[in-house]
Amino acid sequence: MLQAAVIGAGNRGTIYSSYALKRPHEIQIIAIAELDEGRRKRFAKAHNIPEHMQFKTGEELLAGPKLCDVLFICTMDRQHFGPTMLALDKGYHILLEKPMSHDPLESVKIADKAKEKNAILAVCHSMRYGSLTQELKRLIDSKVIGDVMTIQWSENVGAEHYVSSFVRGKWRNSDESSSMILQKSCHDMDMLQWLVGSKCTKVSSFGSLTHFKADQAPEGAGTRCTECAIETDCPFSAIKLYYHERKGGWYNAVSIENTLEARMKALKEGPYGRCVWHCDNNVVDHQVVNLLFENEATVSFTMSGFTGKEKRTFKIMGTKGEIRGSRSQNELEINLFSGKQMVIYPEQYEGGHSGSDFLIMRDFVAQVNRGDRIGKTSAQESARSHMIAFAAEHSRVTGDTIDLDAYIEDVKAGRA
Ligand SMILES: NC(=O)c1ccc[n+]([C@@H]2O[C@H](COP(=O)([O-])OP(=O)(O)OC[C@H]3O[C@@H](n4cnc5c(N)ncnc54)[C@H](O)[C@@H]3O)[C@@H](O)[C@H]2O)c1
Repeated sequence: MLQAAVIGAGNRGTIYSSYALKRPHEIQIIAIAELDEGRRKRFAKAHNIPEHMQFKTGEELLAGPKLCDVLFICTMDRQHFGPTMLALDKGYHILLEKPMSHDPLESVKIADKAKEKNAILAVCHSMRYGSLTQELKRLIDSKVIGDVMTIQWSENVGAEHYVSSFVRGKWRNSDESSSMILQKSCHDMDMLQWLVGSKCTKVSSFGSLTHFKADQAPEGAGTRCTECAIETDCPFSAIKLYYHERKGGWYNAVSIENTLEARMKALKEGPYGRCVWHCDNNVVDHQVVNLLFENEATVSFTMSGFTGKEKRTFKIMGTKGEIRGSRSQNELEINLFSGKQMVIYPEQYEGGHSGSDFLIMRDFVAQVNRGDRIGKTSAQESARSHMIAFAAEHSRVTGDTIDLDAYIEDVKAGRA
């Protein structure tokens, strides 16, 4: 049975570790590092971790001898690099949350170090592990639609998710987290590179933060929803979105204590009670990316915060037909030019990200047991797909079309 240590008992660390509670014969969590005492104690209790294996920081956990086989690094975007490099030096196999780093050079260094140490380092591109994406890849590789010529791929973030995470929440400001295309859409860049199965050569992008800023605030908008004259008419009202528990809602991000009183206090004082037009957000609310691959396949990708539902939709167009799909509907519709039509509903699993959070853990445990260094989302492959996201951001900011290989050389030489 595998033994694992975890750095960061927040949202993601708790989700991945819950696998060990469901399948204790496969993996056991034996150590935790978490800054927040309440979270640390709660996590330690759930996993029965003794006092001497509870650490305040990842640095403390990594200061001593190697504790076990694998380490989950589940801290926020800018806190991945240091612990990952140290843990690789100590000989851990790692499950690393995306993005590998907010910085392109650090992402390359992580991949190089994992290779040098012959370590397993799986990046949590969770959606790659999902049954719908796996089925899509199988269909593409079996050439059902011939050779892929072009892909339309949309990340419909959903307005509620957008304002909760990217206007008020932890990913609102790229100086604290990372750019939108990296933090949210590195999953998409990774899936697109993998699905096309060729090397991405050119990247261009446009986008901006246009709507969720002060000059767009409707007349009468206050700085907090609890003190706003037009709150009852506002679709983004924090009171409407977070005060009451709602399936799929973001109420539990607002306050750790799950009571109406605690949530109202948090809405009066905390970041989630702020007006969506008066926050310190700077990430884009809409962005498009165009990609060219070595095999001449093209991709157009759209990320938008202005969608009713949160879902990814896509159309894969090949020389013999097309595949249309929607992740949230778990549906793949195949239309061949011969006239044949099929609809596939892949097997669904319980858990976050349409079961992908469970499947990534199942796969990672099996990968470590097999000793397979590559797996589905290796450090090298993930670093390359991260580079597409970094290059897209570079293109968005500079207005240039980016030659990806030249960009990567610039990153390695410290010029980008
Ligand atoms: N794979 C996915 O689909 C997916 C989805 C959402 C978020 N993420 C990524 O997962 C990461 C974590 O996100 P989250 O929502 O779980 O964040 P979180 O804030 O809920 O959890 C991070 C935890 O790390 C702790 N921490 C910070 N510094 C620490 C240190 N030095 N030592 C020990 N603990 C420390 C914090 O106290 C916090 O509890 C982010 O990088 C995010 O972008 C990935």
